[in-house]
Amino acid sequence: MRLQGKSVLITGAGSGIGKCTAQLFAAEGAEVIVCDIDAAKGEETVAEIAAGGGTSAFLQADVTNPESVQAMVKAAIERFGRIDVLFNNAGISGVGAIHEVEPDVWDRVINVNIRGVYLPSKYVLGHMMERQSGNIINMSSCIAEIGLARRASYAATKGAVLALTKSMQVDYAPYNIRVNALLPGTIMTPFVENYLRSSYADPEEGFASIKSRQLTGELGRPDDVAKAALFLASDESKFMMGSPLYIDGGVVFGKNA
Ligand SMILES: NC(=O)c1ccc[n+]([C@@H]2O[C@H](COP(=O)([O-])OP(=O)(O)OC[C@H]3O[C@@H](n4cnc5c(N)ncnc54)[C@H](O)[C@@H]3O)[C@@H](O)[C@H]2O)c1
Repeated sequence: MRLQGKSVLITGAGSGIGKCTAQLFAAEGAEVIVCDIDAAKGEETVAEIAAGGGTSAFLQADVTNPESVQAMVKAAIERFGRIDVLFNNAGISGVGAIHEVEPDVWDRVINVNIRGVYLPSKYVLGHMMERQSGNIINMSSCIAEIGLARRASYAATKGAVLALTKSMQVDYAPYNIRVNALLPGTIMTPFVENYLRSSYADPEEGFASIKSRQLTGELGRPDDVAKAALFLASDESKFMMGSPLYIDGGVVFGKNA
């Protein structure tokens, strides 16, 4: 029970890594606010947590919309009394080199992946500052550190999230608030299934190609990232501040040849 007594808000908790993290955090004793734009998926996460004996509540929000996020944060604090941990996890992929990416696609990826970290943080931070206590985990990606083909918009956002994490940490350290980032490699979720379908004529060939980037030769699983998020959310990581945590099967620091 490494999160006993903690209240945690996770964005994008209706699918993939966010969903798996919500389940793990609830099993570790946290009260989990499951936030997603997709109500059906978010409610499913809550039902699964309830079936496992955990405590959670679904609150719908679009992380790009200030009114929606502000109302969700207010409702979360009303429901559980406080937010100890904010996990800014919601994100979308963006495929294409710069010359291929249309401006509306570029804007959408930037909006969800950067504004979607800024807005929940903005509305939760006032509450955390008042309590002189808090913990924020931002979802970056190993793409912030390495070049990968035809991911320009996505790479730009995840690099921005890593830089933002460091800047936030300096601003909020005086309030006893920690801010760290997760940098996963390729993790098998619906996000990657969509990416394979939209990027490769032959998704099987694409799958083999992305698997070969990992030194393990296999993709990561959502619970690999959820366990790293658990470490950051718990007091076990209390000396980690403004840090990137890699969960990438050796993509960033390894070499395959
Ligand atoms: N899967 C990977 O390989 C991988 C690698 C590195 C980083 N990441 C990052 O991890 C995070 C989660 O990815 P995943 O693979 O679990 O994806 P996923 O597609 O399985 O889940 C993302 C969730 O975010 C929600 N969401 C999307 N837009 C939203 C919005 N505007 N407001 C609220 N919720 C919204 C979706 O409804 C979905 O439930 C993303 O930020 C992604 O960039 C994923």
